[in-house]
Amino acid sequence: MAAATLVGEEAQEDETSLESEFFELLVASERVGTLVDRIQDTACFQRRRQAVFDLAAAIEKSESYVVEARQAGVVDLLTSILKKYSDDDDQLVQRACSIIMACSGTLSCSGKVRQHSFGPVTVTIKEGTLADGLGARIWAVANSLCSDLVEKPALVQGKRVLDIGAGTGLCGIVAAKLGAAQVTLTDYEEPVLRILRASVAANASCAAANISHPLIVKAATEKSYEVEDLEFDPEDAEECDNLDDFLLGTAKDTQAETLHWDLENMCVRHMDWADDLKRLQGKEVVLGSKGTMRDEVGEIVPEVDASETFDVIIGSDILYEMAHASLVAAVLKRRLREGGAAIISLAVRDQGILDTFIMSASGMGMSVDKEQVWQLW
Ligand SMILES: C[S@@+](CC[C@H](N)C(=O)[O-])C[C@H]1O[C@@H](n2cnc3c(N)ncnc32)[C@H](O)[C@@H]1O
Repeated sequence: MAAATLVGEEAQEDETSLESEFFELLVASERVGTLVDRIQDTACFQRRRQAVFDLAAAIEKSESYVVEARQAGVVDLLTSILKKYSDDDDQLVQRACSIIMACSGTLSCSGKVRQHSFGPVTVTIKEGTLADGLGARIWAVANSLCSDLVEKPALVQGKRVLDIGAGTGLCGIVAAKLGAAQVTLTDYEEPVLRILRASVAANASCAAANISHPLIVKAATEKSYEVEDLEFDPEDAEECDNLDDFLLGTAKDTQAETLHWDLENMCVRHMDWADDLKRLQGKEVVLGSKGTMRDEVGEIVPEVDASETFDVIIGSDILYEMAHASLVAAVLKRRLREGGAAIISLAVRDQGILDTFIMSASGMGMSVDKEQVWQLW
């Protein structure tokens, strides 16, 4: 009897807690909606700024706000705010970054120069800050994709590979070092493209050394990759001209002369997934104001050829907003040659995005296999 009463009380408690959780989510949803409207409203900077502060405070207090903010597409919204105000307003940047990190599950790494080793392949990357764009950081699932590639190098060896949303380029560079015939590393944000180009430059001159050693590829496990922080002392780094420049930070000044869009078996290209969706829908695509993209020093950023197709497409953490589901599916549909395959590694923050992606890709006639690699949280 006592037990029955207890069960009754527990059930009631459960019901009450479910109700209060639902109510909390409802309140969070409304509040996040209001704050997002204010952040989007460009009419008054102070109002926008205050809304970012309020959202950061709310997110710190309750997980419900994180869930709602993520669903409201706050990550992309704040990334664009960061780009605009990163030089003038430290506090705003700090708050925006804390929201982005909370919504992304702290999956981005720390922004240092590091050597990343996956079995026999070592890649040196200098990350930027989130103000340069989300792709300026290496996202944790990139490590999982790199380990997969090292474990099964035949996936990319001798193949023409496209890395979409490449960010710092870690995965594409691993594919290049594993012996891909050609890797096209792409992103759509100018600062990220600059970081991507520097990554390629830092690793290209080392690639020859790598290729001259036969690759002994051992099966990689989830724990088999290593990351080593590099002090800003080129003596500690591999001997490599561009890498010295890169680590010393002198490459930036001479970037236009020393960095190239095409190096060895790698090339860096601008590619916006939205353009491929438009092409798939038969719509016109207009690139930049004069039909081309230019970087901050006015140099033309080469575009992936509109009709180019690839044997393999790789992508890591590229499905983090609902809109990406149909965009990425469109890219795969347009860019995979017949019989080609894509390997996408992602953090499932929102099951709905993954389900929508699988539905879109299947709807376009592609077959999708999924495999859970890590349980990250
Ligand atoms: C979370 S980051 C992942 C970066 C990198 N793949 C990694 O795992 O470290 C997502 C990347 O997708 C890129 N991205 C987002 N939307 C895009 C679009 N419409 N077209 C091209 N790239 C896009 C971002 O610029 C960013 O580099």
